[in-house]
Amino acid sequence: MADKKPFYITTPIYYPSGRLHIGSSYTTLFCDAMARYKRLTGHEVFFLTGLDEHGQKIEQKAEENGITPQEYVDSMAVDVKKLWKHLEINYDHFIRTTDKQHVEVVQKTFERLLAQGDIYLGEYQGWYSVSDEEYFTETQLMEVYKDDQGNVIGGKAPSGHEVELVTEECYFFRMGKYADRLIEHYAAHPEFIQPESRKTEMLNNFIIPGLEDLALTRTTFKWGIEVPSNPKHVVYVWIDALMNYLSALGYSTDNDANFQKFWPASVQVIGKEIVRFHTIYWPIILMALDLPLPEKIYAHGWIVMKDGKMSKSKGNVVYPEMLVERYGLDALRYYLLRSMPFGNDSVFTPEDFVARVNYDLANDLGNLLNRTVAMINKYCDGFVPKYASHVTEFDSGLSTTAANVIGNYRKAMENMEVSVALQEIWSLVSRANKYIDETEPWVLAKDEERRAELNSVMVHLAESLRIVGVLLQPMLTQTPGKIFKQLGIDQVEFNMESIRFGEFPNDCKVISKGTPIFPRQDAEEEIAYIQEKMNEKAPANSVVWNPEETTLVSSKEKPAKFEDFEKVELKVAEIIDCQKVEGADKLLQFRLDAGDEGHRQILSGIAEFYPDPSELVGKKVAIVANLKPRKIRGLISQGMILSAEYDGKLKMIEVPKSIPNGSELA
Ligand code: ME8
Ligand code: MG
Repeated sequence: MADKKPFYITTPIYYPSGRLHIGSSYTTLFCDAMARYKRLTGHEVFFLTGLDEHGQKIEQKAEENGITPQEYVDSMAVDVKKLWKHLEINYDHFIRTTDKQHVEVVQKTFERLLAQGDIYLGEYQGWYSVSDEEYFTETQLMEVYKDDQGNVIGGKAPSGHEVELVTEECYFFRMGKYADRLIEHYAAHPEFIQPESRKTEMLNNFIIPGLEDLALTRTTFKWGIEVPSNPKHVVYVWIDALMNYLSALGYSTDNDANFQKFWPASVQVIGKEIVRFHTIYWPIILMALDLPLPEKIYAHGWIVMKDGKMSKSKGNVVYPEMLVERYGLDALRYYLLRSMPFGNDSVFTPEDFVARVNYDLANDLGNLLNRTVAMINKYCDGFVPKYASHVTEFDSGLSTTAANVIGNYRKAMENMEVSVALQEIWSLVSRANKYIDETEPWVLAKDEERRAELNSVMVHLAESLRIVGVLLQPMLTQTPGKIFKQLGIDQVEFNMESIRFGEFPNDCKVISKGTPIFPRQDAEEEIAYIQEKMNEKAPANSVVWNPEETTLVSSKEKPAKFEDFEKVELKVAEIIDCQKVEGADKLLQFRLDAGDEGHRQILSGIAEFYPDPSELVGKKVAIVANLKPRKIRGLISQGMILSAEYDGKLKMIEVPKSIPNGSELA
């Protein structure tokens, strides 16, 4: 291990502005595959991801939900970590820009750059889009509104969001000073930006025309890192956000061992829309700090839908949880990693997804494994014959293909072409399927004199599958283990430093009856199912239960007033937990499962009618599910439990237990 270079890979830090969909999950999944590959080839890896928690957008989200920004990001952090766990994203560190260490590093760095003269105080005027957190020049606007005299009074950003004219005192970074050095760096390191076409774009559109100074601070909102020497300014999102890649390693702190070991980053993976920030501003900030630049900035394309970008308003958003629940984690991981071509966009369609599951996974790979296990049971009493080089030309053909595949796979992974690496694996799968047709084991089995040939076919098939399993380890987290197990291999993981065809372990007994690792799906039915899920609105509440802090969040899809009856969403909820609120005689604090992704909390003033709250656990009640969350005694209450009032008492309406949680009352 000592002779291998430590591998530092980063995702962008995510805006916690809503539930993450399959598109946003792609960056992290891709990095996870790369990180696993590097670990399995003997590198020490530091895989960083996290959240970009400051800024006006977050401040607004929190306000909409009736909670503080800190409460909001705390609960989003729980949600996002839960999603990564669900997708088996094996990161080494999850940074949050509200982390104390990060805040200190940003402040220290800012003051240093100010003292050096790289940062200066000036004034900014521009068209600002709150949603994009970005200023635009008039010419960049997609649409402008003019008054009678023809003066521009407003407009729309390229994203379609409204912009407003903002003038403020502002700190700037003198970017232009470093332009020549940046151009030199690009020239001396052709691999720095991947794919290379992005580099040309940066040079022609931004660098050669002359770099503008970058606005770094804002005075119009509070939710950000204060400039220590001028606290009415908060550091505007980009320098705060970019510095995460250093602060996560302990840069400029007393505990900077990780920084010493892992900087400069081996690769920083980003989506194509943030290339400018990562290939111009970020390297320049690093130059100003006298730090080496990352070896590579890798920009992937987007996952888009037939009708363009995924968006809630279009009703075309696909959430990863839905696909995982129905088809398994590896189906999703395979689909995403396979379908994204290097540097380009990938169009998600339900048809394409189901086809990949059926053809690639169920048919090609699943059947190969099934047939192999069945034949070894039938012809060899379940024991995989000993590998003994080649008996026929078919054997050598197969092992030559395997050797080529291993080589091409390696090359592809080193170039971070994960999709190509998967194609290579599938070319071995196809070759092995074809090999069965060529060798006709059922014919060999009839002739005792051809026993050696038959045995060789069986072990060649088993060995091909072992290789497939080994090569799949970075991408799929469950399938390799299942393949090994069905083949009777004890080992759960194989190091990939020196993988070779012909090393199938001795004395393996395949399982007596293989179950399909990817069940074949009814295409029509599943396409309809995914389509239907895409059209569903996101759950009204994305709720998490955080027992220490009870910070619960709602996305306020459907605000309802009591008089607007048809807007009220009534749901069945199961009581998971119930307790008295200390210091408030009337209040009970409920934790409920209303079919949401997490639990929700509701406070109800019925304590005097339920002396033993623990008796309520397991009962089902009716709740108003879409009330705007509010704070009662410092605790979030998210909805209302329906109670009947009689004889001066309040009793909750109980619902039969057979009705599933989350059912709507209509
Ligand atoms: O940009 N397809 O965060 P973010 C593929 N906080 N990738 C997608 C995608 C899609 N449809 N939608 C989003 C930010 N992504 C900043 C970064 S870094 C110092 C600050 C990807 O939450 C996107 O390209 O908007 C990016 O890589 C990641 O999701 C997070 O995006
Ligand atoms: Mg974005």
